[in-house]
Amino acid sequence: MKTIAVLTSGGDAPGMNAAVRAVVHSAIHNHYKVVGVEDGFKGLVEGRFVSLDRKSVARIINRGGTFLGSVRYENFKSEDVQKEAVNTMRSHNIEALIAIGGEGTFRGVSALSKFGVKIIGIPATIDNDISSTDYSIGFFSALDTAVESIDKLRDTSDSHQRCSVVEVMGRDSGDLALYAGLAGGSEIVITPETGYDEEEVVQSVEQAFRDNKRHAIVVVTERLTDVGALAKKIEDKTGFESRATVLGHVQRGGTPQAFDRVLAAEMGHHAVKLIEEDNTGRILGLRGKRIVDYSISEALNMERANQQTHYEIVKKLKH
Ligand code: F6P
Repeated sequence: MKTIAVLTSGGDAPGMNAAVRAVVHSAIHNHYKVVGVEDGFKGLVEGRFVSLDRKSVARIINRGGTFLGSVRYENFKSEDVQKEAVNTMRSHNIEALIAIGGEGTFRGVSALSKFGVKIIGIPATIDNDISSTDYSIGFFSALDTAVESIDKLRDTSDSHQRCSVVEVMGRDSGDLALYAGLAGGSEIVITPETGYDEEEVVQSVEQAFRDNKRHAIVVVTERLTDVGALAKKIEDKTGFESRATVLGHVQRGGTPQAFDRVLAAEMGHHAVKLIEEDNTGRILGLRGKRIVDYSISEALNMERANQQTHYEIVKKLKH
């Protein structure tokens, strides 16, 4: 019996557990043994494997986080460390590896494939910044959390006639802010793609209050500005009380919503199918309703899909 290993790496994302479950079910169905790797590439180097069967992945489909654990492992950039991982895999007779994660994970995937490791990457990150896929596992769950929080902030903002400046995650991708802004009815969305024009932000908030609204919502991607300082500027320039809220890691936790679980099931199944067909060195994606796969270099060099339409909708809804 051949063995497939599965790991989760980088920032966790709701739905990672559902993806591991799908890999385990699919692999067992195809007569493979499956081992889970604890704590991502670090556990791979250290040979920390746990045997997985259907029972070990029962009751995890609805659990947030990753039961295998995840680590941001800077040392994995070193070729020597990568070679150690390859040797560990060989000594444990591991035929192929499925790595579930985001951009950083795929750099590890690419490195290992250069040593001849049979490997598949499954995109799972709340940032939705993976070019090979329309949506990554975890994005919609994090989005639901962000929107739920914005709804709550609207309640209190409306009571006090205030502006809420809400910082969401996303790293260099504005998707979470953009979709949260659309679903949360914000006045304006500030993302790495839109840039940040203070005058425009102030005008949007002023317009909301001129329209006799009792609240205004500004959604901002993390790392672009200090949201506390931005709230203060809005207050000073518009005369409307403003408060800043950083949603932070709350967005990474919680029960994965249904779409993320379905995506996880489809991608987990597809990854095992590729291994079965001996078609490895692939990174998966969703295009429309279809699960697709690309060579690692094609996936890593692809342009990200443009979200222009969404940005236009945000603007049109407000002006
Ligand atoms: O990549 C997911 C993510 O949550 C980003 O949105 C955020 O910038 C980063 O991870 C935070 O990383 P950490 O959990 O290591 O602080």
